[in-house]
Amino acid sequence: MSVANTIKEQLERASWIRRMFEEGIRMKAERGPENVYDFTLGNPEVEPPPAVLGALDRVVAERRPHGYMPNAGFPAVRERVAYKLSEATGLPYTADHILMTVGSAGAINTFLKAILDPGDEVIVPMPCFSEYQFYVTNHAGKMVTVETTREFDLDVEGIAHAITPRTRAIILNSPHNPTGVIYPASTLARLSKLIESLDHPVTVISDEPYRTLIYDGARMPETAALVSRSVVCNSWSKSAALAGERIGYLAISPRIPEWNELRNACTFTNRILGFINAPAIWQWVIAEAFDITVDVGAYQEKRDLLCAGLAASGYQVRKPQATFYVFVPTPIEDDIRFIGLLAREGVLAVPGAGFGRRGYMRLSLTAPKDVVVRSIPAFARVMETVRARRAM
Ligand SMILES: Cc1ncc(COP(=O)(O)O)c(C=O)c1O
Repeated sequence: MSVANTIKEQLERASWIRRMFEEGIRMKAERGPENVYDFTLGNPEVEPPPAVLGALDRVVAERRPHGYMPNAGFPAVRERVAYKLSEATGLPYTADHILMTVGSAGAINTFLKAILDPGDEVIVPMPCFSEYQFYVTNHAGKMVTVETTREFDLDVEGIAHAITPRTRAIILNSPHNPTGVIYPASTLARLSKLIESLDHPVTVISDEPYRTLIYDGARMPETAALVSRSVVCNSWSKSAALAGERIGYLAISPRIPEWNELRNACTFTNRILGFINAPAIWQWVIAEAFDITVDVGAYQEKRDLLCAGLAASGYQVRKPQATFYVFVPTPIEDDIRFIGLLAREGVLAVPGAGFGRRGYMRLSLTAPKDVVVRSIPAFARVMETVRARRAM
């Protein structure tokens, strides 16, 4: 067999979304697409905002350069990103602290490759975006998991206990996939204190691709401002619905004493991972449309409709503050079995097992509004089935 055993094992573990995707195709063919309610994919269903497409048209019309460039990206674009981050955080970012990357995933991999030796440890609060385990093992690291609190806030004491001399980084994701939680400033400040008290450097990798998808006027505390040893990984995949264009950045905090050494290492790892540089055209586009975001109100409306419908059917649902996911406790602990019951009614969801938290399901608000509305009776029927079985 030519496929590496590691990849074979990872493929097996990574198969939840793929399985649900294939199930969706089979169900749509069998029942008709109008009878399938697909809540699985975290792929923006909307067009990028007109201002982003307008910037794209201008960049193409102006015939901006297409060739190789410094591996960190165009200096003028990095300057623009640095300016915007300084404005948001009050930190003295310059173009030298910024690398343009192939999405947030590219930024995380570039950084992990730069800091990990084989066997080094990376702490990940659970539940989590399931790709992290593969990113860490890509670079011969070991992922160490720490459960979050009941409200899915960070357990800073738990993290303190998990730190060993081999710990190199902690991956934070706020706003959080799948829970929709934004970590409070007070938690981030406590984490920073903990890191500052250690006798070896541990860096927070702050993965923030959902940072603009925030509801009810909530505010996103700036991790870079609150955690002295942090790097920010961000992208326009969700905020501007550009997931397929693969454009993001890595911002190394000017407060990290050896930031320049890290920057040189990341410029090299961005190259040797085969990214070489982030897509040229999209670097220019986002420099012009840095703050442009999709209509968050449309996600908020779907969130409210779905949460109200689920609550009325007896689900213990808590409205997410951010992201386009709703993470709901399943009425039976066996989330995989529950997902099977939902599928019988035409509803597709990802089980909490896919994020390392049994007894939950993740529903994506990228499903169209009419699907959200039409799905509610199906959710209600499954709840009825569970209650009827309990009563027996
Ligand atoms: C938490 C989290 N991080 C990173 C990514 C990857 O984002 P990007 O498209 O910017 O690489 C995703 C995508 O779903 C995500 O949910």
